Amino acid sequence: MIHIAPSSQVSAEQAASWHAVLAASLARDLPDEPRPTPEQVQAQLTAAGLDSRRLFWLATESGGAVAGVAALRLFTSPGQDHLAELDLHVHPDRRRSGTGSLLLDAAVRAAKSERRRSLITAAADGGPGDAFCAARGLRRVLTLDHLLLDVAQADDAAAGIEHPDYELVDWTGTVPGELAEAFAAAKNAMNDMPTGDMDYGDQAWTADRVRAMADVLADRGDLLLTTAALGKGEMAGYTEIVIRAGETRRALQYDTAVVPAHRGHGLGLWVKAAMVRRLRAEHPGIAEIETDNAQDNTHMLAVNWRLGFRSHRRTHQYQLDLPTA
Ligand SMILES: CC(C)(COP(=O)(O)OP(=O)(O)OC[C@H]1O[C@@H](n2cnc3c(N)ncnc32)[C@H](O)[C@@H]1OP(=O)(O)O)[C@@H](O)C(=O)NCCC(=O)NCCS
Repeated sequence: MIHIAPSSQVSAEQAASWHAVLAASLARDLPDEPRPTPEQVQAQLTAAGLDSRRLFWLATESGGAVAGVAALRLFTSPGQDHLAELDLHVHPDRRRSGTGSLLLDAAVRAAKSERRRSLITAAADGGPGDAFCAARGLRRVLTLDHLLLDVAQADDAAAGIEHPDYELVDWTGTVPGELAEAFAAAKNAMNDMPTGDMDYGDQAWTADRVRAMADVLADRGDLLLTTAALGKGEMAGYTEIVIRAGETRRALQYDTAVVPAHRGHGLGLWVKAAMVRRLRAEHPGIAEIETDNAQDNTHMLAVNWRLGFRSHRRTHQYQLDLPTA
């Protein structure tokens, strides 16, 4: 008998159970991937998100063991308040007994009562989540290629190319005050990132919102590194890397964007190559960078191939369209 308990907060004990389910689930489906530490999971579950709130469910057996977990992120900013994002895992020893379906049903009910138009979730290519989503009536709306860069082998020669109209700047954590407005304007260029048929909406960045984003990461203990190109009175492009708390080996690529008026000059490659140099100098322990790109994001993929990124794995984004009446 499975009991599904909703909550809007996760206790330390629940976070430990959550970590156990998640780590076992990832070990089964993605055995070569690094697994999150208990501290990372605790921080992810308890720190506030940017312009969003979350609902949680634990599926508990009569003896008290946690068989599955689900988190639903409800976006609250005006361009995304139609959206709910689901993260769902069932312990490998408890699968195929309906627990995943019970958790999904609970999340869908909550998304409907929160008047969400679209529920999205990610599943590894060829894994059980793929079959589960298809069986449960979700449709595939986007495929992401995950790429890995071996930092020691990366070709960072483009960092040395002269771009006479531009200069590189970098910072750690929150953007310096004098660059905050320009950075927010550049971040709005991310809204034309290809998102397939996914009903992802738009994010409107302001100086306050970029500072809030940096605060969210700092609250989790994550380190945010940004390298940007300034030119002609604007921020022309930037790239962001996150090193999660406790991480010793892998860094995560966050945004890279070049604003439309500055595209076609190699600035995307420039800022990313400069970031590779920076990582080598400032964080020599970081051996690899993971990024994911929509398969039709040809320009970003071309930049990544040039730097030496290689295909690693693939995930699919699934979506459930919910009645809005
Ligand atoms: C996907 C996942 C949540 C499914 O949990 P579960 O408790 O096994 O799901 P259910 O028992 O409710 O399965 C419902 C139906 O989905 C389909 N399904 C689930 N897993 C499947 C698999 N490995 N192969 C084929 N079909 C599968 C079946 O049609 C199943 O019904 P059936 O068992 O009567 O044939 C679980 O495998 C998991 O945690 N995977 C890793 C995380 C993940 O991919 N999450 C994203 C999905 S939202």
